[in-house]
Amino acid sequence: MKILAIETSCDETSAAVVSSSPDNRILSNVIHSQIEIHKKYGGVIPEYAARNHLNNIDVVVTEALKIANVRIKDIDVVAATAGPGLMGGLLVGLTIAKTISIMIDKPFIAINHLEAHILTPRLIYTDLDFPYLVLLASGGNFLFAEVKKVGQYKILGETLDDAAGEAFDKVAKMLGLPYPGGPSIEKAASKGNKNRFNYTIPLLKQKGCNGSFSGLKTATKKHIATLRGEMNDQDVCDIAASFQNVVVKFIERQFKKALEMTSSNVKSVVIAGGVAANQNLRTTTQHFAKIHNLQFFAPPIALCSDNAAMIGWCAVERIKANLGYSDLNFPVKPRWQIDNTNAKGKPNSKISI
Ligand code: KG4
Repeated sequence: MKILAIETSCDETSAAVVSSSPDNRILSNVIHSQIEIHKKYGGVIPEYAARNHLNNIDVVVTEALKIANVRIKDIDVVAATAGPGLMGGLLVGLTIAKTISIMIDKPFIAINHLEAHILTPRLIYTDLDFPYLVLLASGGNFLFAEVKKVGQYKILGETLDDAAGEAFDKVAKMLGLPYPGGPSIEKAASKGNKNRFNYTIPLLKQKGCNGSFSGLKTATKKHIATLRGEMNDQDVCDIAASFQNVVVKFIERQFKKALEMTSSNVKSVVIAGGVAANQNLRTTTQHFAKIHNLQFFAPPIALCSDNAAMIGWCAVERIKANLGYSDLNFPVKPRWQIDNTNAKGKPNSKISI
């Protein structure tokens, strides 16, 4: 089975061809990044993102088919992100996917972007079994969940304010570092002193494993203010290092609480989403897993941030679990939660040509 998958929920226009064959799963994964457009604003401008998706989607889909050496008529299923994400971008991807599905008369599947992130490690690691504990940390999300099986996700904790990636982006902007902030902060932090600026770990007195990152942004603003407009390169590196250190320590602490909230047969700890590219977070979580006698999995860096291969893989998982396909009138869902990823309907139910 070959899936043509499309991802346009934020600032990456991506198309992939994914196969259900265990030997060679990713046949192509083309990503057109919009970073250059949004860089000067220090964040994604939704209207510009939508227009740029529209300009590039045909090129990206054509390229994905070419690299995979697959003709459009050989595609068995068309999948696209239906949410959560930015409305304009989602409309572009979903409309193209539905149109191709009608054109080639093959089923369509609407995919939840968060579900795709948390199942991505299984695309690479065939030994990652359910149930597992996952942290999904990206530009728009921060949550801990127990992944019981495909389509069954118990949210254990969520951010009370900002997502971790958003905090990395905003702090980078305050420090005059380029967008996206995560990689910039990580690079600056490698040359900084993590003990120079004092940050309090968030939610110290609260139960549960929720997230909170807005206080760390405010603390950063205050640290910058103490430098009275004379922030030099070393100051930037020291703030970056101190900020990254408190984020990773906070996540480690919440991971411990999340683990206590899971069922006893969880065997693995997983991190996913753009922030999972952070080497410090990877090493700390790997160590955490080891001391709790659990296996650790994180997607390769290239599959942490948004890409269409993860959407295609999620479609494979849902079809295998008997949870595919979707109605062609399935809507975009900019705020689609992960605890109800049901998108089932009759394939190509509404339109016949
Ligand atoms: O998953 P993703 O590509 O997009 C969303 O679905 O949001 O995540 C993007 C986020 C950005 O906020 C970016 O700054 C962050 O992931 N990120 C990182 C790193 N690489 C990307 N955060 C921390 N450390 C990194 N190395």
